[in-house]
This record gives sequence, structure tokens and C-alpha cells, in this order.
Amino acid sequence: MASEEQLTSQRTGPRLLACLTDPASTQVVRDFAIAQRWRNASIIEGGIVSAQGQLQQQVAPNLLIVDVDDAEDPVQALYALADLCPPEMSVITIGQRNDLNLYRDLIELGVSDYLPKPITVPMLERALKRGKQRTQNGSNEETQKAQIITLMGARGGVGTTTVAAGLAWCLAHLQHRTVALVDLDLHFGNLALSLDLVPGPGLREALEYPARIDARLLSSATLHESPQLSVLAAEEPLVDQPQVAAGAADAMATVLRADCDFIIVELPRHLDDSVRRMITIASTVGIVTDLSLTAARDTLRLAEFNKILSPTAKHMVIGNQVGSVHRGEVGRPEFERVVGLNLDFAVPFEPQTALTTSSMGTALPAALRNSKAALEIIAMAEQLSGIEAPQKKSFSASKFLPTLPSWLKRSA
Ligand SMILES: Nc1ncnc2c1ncn2[C@@H]1O[C@H](COP(=O)(O)OP(=O)(O)OP(=O)(O)O)[C@@H](O)[C@H]1O
Ligand SMILES: [Mg+2]
Repeated sequence: MASEEQLTSQRTGPRLLACLTDPASTQVVRDFAIAQRWRNASIIEGGIVSAQGQLQQQVAPNLLIVDVDDAEDPVQALYALADLCPPEMSVITIGQRNDLNLYRDLIELGVSDYLPKPITVPMLERALKRGKQRTQNGSNEETQKAQIITLMGARGGVGTTTVAAGLAWCLAHLQHRTVALVDLDLHFGNLALSLDLVPGPGLREALEYPARIDARLLSSATLHESPQLSVLAAEEPLVDQPQVAAGAADAMATVLRADCDFIIVELPRHLDDSVRRMITIASTVGIVTDLSLTAARDTLRLAEFNKILSPTAKHMVIGNQVGSVHRGEVGRPEFERVVGLNLDFAVPFEPQTALTTSSMGTALPAALRNSKAALEIIAMAEQLSGIEAPQKKSFSASKFLPTLPSWLKRSA
């Protein structure tokens, strides 16, 4: 029987799945997981066959380390595994054979690395780093698809909707990108209303029945701020309990990616499966916070949580309403000291903002174009579009094989 080792609880879903055939490699991978401070790694006995079994039963990990020694033809076997792997999953292969042709074939297939045994912790660290660099440099095809940006407030009322709508507006109208703005708070989200749009029932239907999600369903659920800026939002009756299905986040992202440069998702602060999944597949994960001590504490906890779910994403902390004494602000240096992170952006508190945006039903940078708050959100949009500018759309196999993992794209 396969022995399974849970390094700790699975509360946040498996960060790492390792399927290994020998005790020495198992020990090295265990040390590697501890060195990375991953508390939710699964280490399973067996190679590609075990990986197949695990991926059929559980939520896909961010990183798969798999021993290819049990397969006669590792390239074919990994190709067969592809159907079970989401696009953003990284794969590191290990094996006995020190064979350059095998290495080239596997790299060509899209795996991050092939490490000949005996493996060591530094070898795994280098392989992980290479995978990250590939993503960041845009040398793999993931970066040519829509970028998913998630924003979650450390506390209620810190201005997450204001920042999300403002960022989407800047990317759409100043950077001329195609943007989908999604509000995953089906009960209390006010993203649509903040842009003077009336939420409809389509988003809930899409999230409850992801198998039905296709371009037609989403387009019937979509509200249009403008041709470049689409909004998906709901305002479900409070007595209802929408049952968001497993796979909804992936299904929605797959369809939206075909038409958008950016998908910006405002996340509610209940950490259900769809929220966790959205963070996992995001390329940029942002926390919006005021500069109070209570928000600092939750920013810290959320930042750690986000890094576990999406270690290769770009992580941002956005201070908003900066300078607002009434929110119990402790000042930027003290806030940064407590959190142990620097703010990536600091959007000042502007008393006119609430009044102007709500009376005009428009995004902050549109309503108060030259305000300091608008300029900071514009800078955020410039940075995100500059770093992560998608390539111009052209005919691409990924359009027709939307679920093919990135590590197999190049052979598609
Ligand atoms: N930089 C700012 N300066 C002044 N007022 C702001 C600023 N950012 C947001 N606000 C105001 O704060 C209030 C709350 O903003 P918003 O709805 O964006 O917060 P939220 O974090 O999304 O709230 P919720 O937790 O309900 O989702 C609004 O009235 C908004 O206009
Ligand atoms: Mg909000």
C-alpha cells in the first residue's frame, strides 16, 4: 500500500505533491519542503502512476515533483498525465537516467526541470527558481494569456472595491487593455453599483454550474462599462445560499482568458474553495488595507496565506485611505514594521472620493483624474501592464486547447 505523509494539515490545499520511488529522494524532498516552510506537502510512494491516482482524487497542487523511473517511456507517460494538470502547475521530474536526450525531451514537453538522482535540496531549490524565472520572464506561454489579479481587503471598508474598479478602469481606458472585472461576493459585492451598473443573476448561475460555462453564458451574464471593460457581479437575495461548485474559478478563468488581457477579481473575505482557487491561479495577488493595527494583523496573516497558495505570483500590499486618522492609522513606517512588508502602493485618503465616486457612479481615476489617489492607482495600472503586458493576440493552440497545462503547451 502506498504510504502517504502529510507534513501537516491540508487546510490550504496541497502546496506540493511529490510521488517518489526511493527513500533517499523522499528524505531530500521532505527536507526541501521544510526548508521552504511549506506546511501542506503530500509525499507519496510511487512515481507517475501514483501521481495519476493522486491527481484524480485531490485538488491539484502548485508543484508536482515526480519520479519517472516507474515509466518505460517517461515522455509518453507525462504526456498522458497532462489531462489532470491545471495550466499553472509546475512539474519537476527526477530519475535514475542521466540522459541528455531524455532531459531535452522533458524540457521540450514543458516541465521545469529534470534532475538525475541522487537529488539534493539545492538542486530542488534551483529547479524551483528556474520555474519561477520562466514565469516571470514571460518565456512560457502562461504570460501570454490574460493576467489574473486578485484583490482582497484585509478588513471591511478599506476600499477594495474602489481600488479594483479604479485599477480596471485605468487598464481599460488609459492602457487600452481588455479587462474583465469580477466581484466574487455574490451577496454584498458593490463593484457593479460603483460603476453604475445593475448586477444580474448570470454570475451565480455560472458559478453554480461551471460545466455550463462557455463564452455565450458568460457574455449573457456580463455587464459592460465600456467595450473594453466588462463586469461580472451579482446581488443575490440574502436568504439564498449560492452553492459555488468545485471548478467554477477555473472554468470562468479559462473562458475569460480567451477574450481578456486582464481579469481583476475582488474576493470576499470568506476563504471558500473558489476564493482559494482564484488566488492559486492568479498571477498577481493583492491585499488592500488601511494602516490601522487591526488591519496590519490581518494583512500579515493574509500575506502568508496568499504566499502558500500562490508562491510564484507577484504579491502586492496596497495601502488605501492613507492619512485617514479616523481609521486608527498608526502611520506608514509603524505599519510596515508590524507587517514586516513594505507597501507597494499607498493611495491617500481623499475626503472628496466617496462623495464624487458615488454621486457620479464612476471609477475614482475617472472622477478625480488628477487627485493623488488617482495618480497612485494609475501608477499601479502602469506597473502591472508594463511588467505583464500580454503579447498581441494571434492564432494560438491554447485557444483551442484551453485546459492544456503550460508545461505541455510547447509540444501542442
Ligand atoms: N482613498 C480613499 N479616500 C477616501 N475615501 C475612500 C478611499 N477609498 C475608498 N473610499 C471610500 O470608502 C468607502 C468604502 O470603500 P469600498 O466600498 O471601496 O470598500 P471595500 O473595502 O470594498 O468595502 P467592503 O468591505 O464593503 O467590500 C467608500 O465610501 C469609498 O468611497
Ligand atoms: Mg468591496
